[in-house]
Amino acid sequence: MTERIPEYLIQLKDVSRIYRSGSRSVEALKDINLKIPSGKLVIIKGPSGSGKTTILNIMGGLDQPSSGKVYFQEKELGQYPESELTRIRRKKIGFIFQTYGLIQSFTAFENVELPMRINHFSRKERRERAYECLKMVGLEKRADHRIFELSGGEQQRVGIARALANKPDLILADEPTGELDHNTSMKVMKLFKNLSQGGVTICMVTHDPAVMEYGDLIYEIMDGRIINEEVVVS
Ligand SMILES: Nc1ncnc2c1ncn2[C@@H]1O[C@H](COP(=O)(O)OP(=O)(O)OP(=O)(O)O)[C@@H](O)[C@H]1O
Ligand SMILES: [Mg+2]
Repeated sequence: MTERIPEYLIQLKDVSRIYRSGSRSVEALKDINLKIPSGKLVIIKGPSGSGKTTILNIMGGLDQPSSGKVYFQEKELGQYPESELTRIRRKKIGFIFQTYGLIQSFTAFENVELPMRINHFSRKERRERAYECLKMVGLEKRADHRIFELSGGEQQRVGIARALANKPDLILADEPTGELDHNTSMKVMKLFKNLSQGGVTICMVTHDPAVMEYGDLIYEIMDGRIINEEVVVS
């Protein structure tokens, strides 16, 4: 039996997130309602400090809302046991972190291979897929370089290749083109567009206006609130 694909992979209902430390508190997200349609490229744009990283962490179950609900494949994330949440993150979600989150002393190849080790791919599959993913981001020639030997933009692309390794259903990308020049950014956006046309759901956050034309749906966030929603007809 084939699995029914839900219309929306993720839904946020009345999500708020307040960071508290001592007597100070920051309301980073305020009553957010949004839907991420399956197989689409969704862009959330907004200035620095508007809540973009916070929203991605909540979508991927890395952080919990202070109030409100998050649904992943129509089931509330809060109802999954921690072990199931971990399994979903490992198998179904590819994270591209704003700070890359790479292991510095590993090579590019080893970093990309790591999620496949965790998911018990065979050695041969890991090898082939790691090179394939590095090739997708134009880094096959840097496969054996350690992370600290790579430029910022190259490191960012290793982070993208690593997120693709497990063939996730969902990619959550935090400023994935932040360190890239215009041409390289456009190549990454074309790659994302191709992936979404092949059924992968992508949600990326950015403040880079140059990438907007690739989105199917664009949300604008300001001071923790969604202030605009735009469906792009192509
Ligand atoms: N761990 C934390 N503790 C307290 N406040 C936080 C924490 N993380 C983020 N914030 C605050 O929450 C707000 C939203 O932060 P967030 O990182 O989501 O912004 P962002 O849109 O990703 O910004 P940028 O574009 O600079 O990455 C900011 O005002 C920030 O200072
Ligand atoms: Mg951020």
